[in-house]
Order: sequence, then C-alpha cells, then structure tokens
Amino acid sequence: MMGNPIKHSKSPLIHKEFAHLSDQELTYSAMLVPEDGFAEAVTAFFAEGGKGLNITVPFKQQAYELADELSDRAQRAGAVNTLICLADGRIRGDNTDGVGMMRDIANNHDGRVTNKRVLVVGAGGAVRGVLAPLLQENPASVVIANRTLEKAQTLADQFSDMGRIEACAFEDLAGEPFDWIINGTSASLSGDVPPLPESVVGEYSRCYDMMYSADATPFNQWAANLGAAATYDGLGMLVEQAAESFRLWRGLMPPTGQVIASLKG
Ligand code: ATR
Repeated sequence: MMGNPIKHSKSPLIHKEFAHLSDQELTYSAMLVPEDGFAEAVTAFFAEGGKGLNITVPFKQQAYELADELSDRAQRAGAVNTLICLADGRIRGDNTDGVGMMRDIANNHDGRVTNKRVLVVGAGGAVRGVLAPLLQENPASVVIANRTLEKAQTLADQFSDMGRIEACAFEDLAGEPFDWIINGTSASLSGDVPPLPESVVGEYSRCYDMMYSADATPFNQWAANLGAAATYDGLGMLVEQAAESFRLWRGLMPPTGQVIASLKG
C-alpha cells in the first residue's frame, strides 16, 4: 500500500487477517511515499517483483494516469486504488471503493438501493469513486448535493448515461425524505455536518457515512437525532474494498465479517 500519510492505515492488518482466514501467504505493508516520488516508487515496487498495490490519498489520480490499462469502474471514477501486475508485466488499474460500499450495504446491512431515492452528499473524489457501482444497482433516482453546486452538476452530467441523476444545492433539497443518504464529504474530519435541511431525514431513511470513527461520526449523530431508521459508518466499506482488491490479486474472496467485527473491537 502506498500513501502519504500512512500512519493510521488499517490496511496491513486487514490483509494479514484475510491471508490468515483464507490460507494464503502474503506480505502486505504500508509504504510512505514522498509527494513527488510516486511514479518512481511504483516502478521500483513492480521491478522488485511486487504483485499488487493499494493506492491511497493523495495518489489515486496519479495511479489512474500511470496504469497501462483500466477497468471500466476505474475509468469512471477517474481514480485508481488498486494496481495489479498482469502476466505480461503490464499494470492494470482498478477502483474497488464503490463496489466495497455497495457490498457493505448489501451484505453487512441487508440494504438495497434498487428503486430507492438516494441522496449523495459531496462531489469530491470519494463520491466520484462510488457513483458507477451505485447507479448500476438501479436506484429510482440519485440526487447529488454539494456545497459547491457546479461540482455536483459536473458529476451529474458525467454519469447521466447510467441512470436518473441530478445535482442540487443543499438549501434546495426539499420534499419527501430520502430512502438513503450517503455522506461522501470530508466534513466529518473537521467535526462538521453538511448543512442539509432536516426534512431530508425521515423515519425510513438509512444513512451511510463513508467516514468512520470509534464513536458515531458527526453526520451519523445528526441523522440519528433526527430519527433516521439506521446509521452506518464506512468501516465495512474499508474492509469490503480491501476484500475486492484481495480478490483481484488472489482470485478468491476473503471472509470479511470476522475482520469487520475484530476492527470494531
Ligand atoms: P475526497 O477525495 O475525500 O472526496 P475532496 O475531493 O477534497 O476530497 O472533496 C471533499 C468533499 O467534501 C467536497 O464535496 C467538499 O465540498 P466542496 O466541493 O464544496 O469543497 C465537501 N466538504 C468538505 N468540508 C465540508 C463541509 N464542512 N461542509 C460541507 N461539505 C464539505
């Protein structure tokens, strides 16, 4: 795994657990890469026989540019979090974030977005990374709301061929509560909650924060206080995206439930 910073990364622990639970032998470690040294670090890693890499902040876009070929979902995301060394030595880029979130919702929370009204909050890299797998499940509609409306509009335009998707400013979100509200902003990092109208949350609303923390995230606290049916954080997404990367490298899907439980402690 390459990133900067990497100090708090749980990925080495997650992959160690996956290897143990699925009887695989692997070495997986976190590498702190200087901001201007990403391409060199990737080249050296594969030259030394590395088979696969996870890429995290701030290098996902550089990984997208560096890959020799891309999966459709990585192409759509404009970002790569998984690099795979192919048999012929070429490097394939993929993005497992979106499928990780959708699998967490389906397998760990028994949730479906199919035919549901979905509000996605934020329009940065995190949201861009999940929109294709989300739209593939055929929600009734997706509304992207963002502090900077133009960014939401750009995303809605770029994904409009995949389903009903529109952009909206926070203050213009009105009407029926949403079935699903997915927070992909980084507001929780600074302890903030995006200024959404309270009417977006109803008693049937299920709320998902892509961030996670030991205590409920500020967004999930806000949603729970408004009477949301359920709130989930992104710990399951973290483990499921790692599992999909593991599958791409190893050809088998590791068990995830036990790993999520052990991370919750
Ligand atoms: P990431 O790659 O994590 O998505 P990003 O591309 O910087 O990071 O995007 C961060 C997202 O969080 C953006 O949608 C940002 O809104 P703007 O596009 O208006 O900047 C959103 N965001 C960050 N802090 C926020 C806050 N306090 N309230 C609302 N939205 C916030």
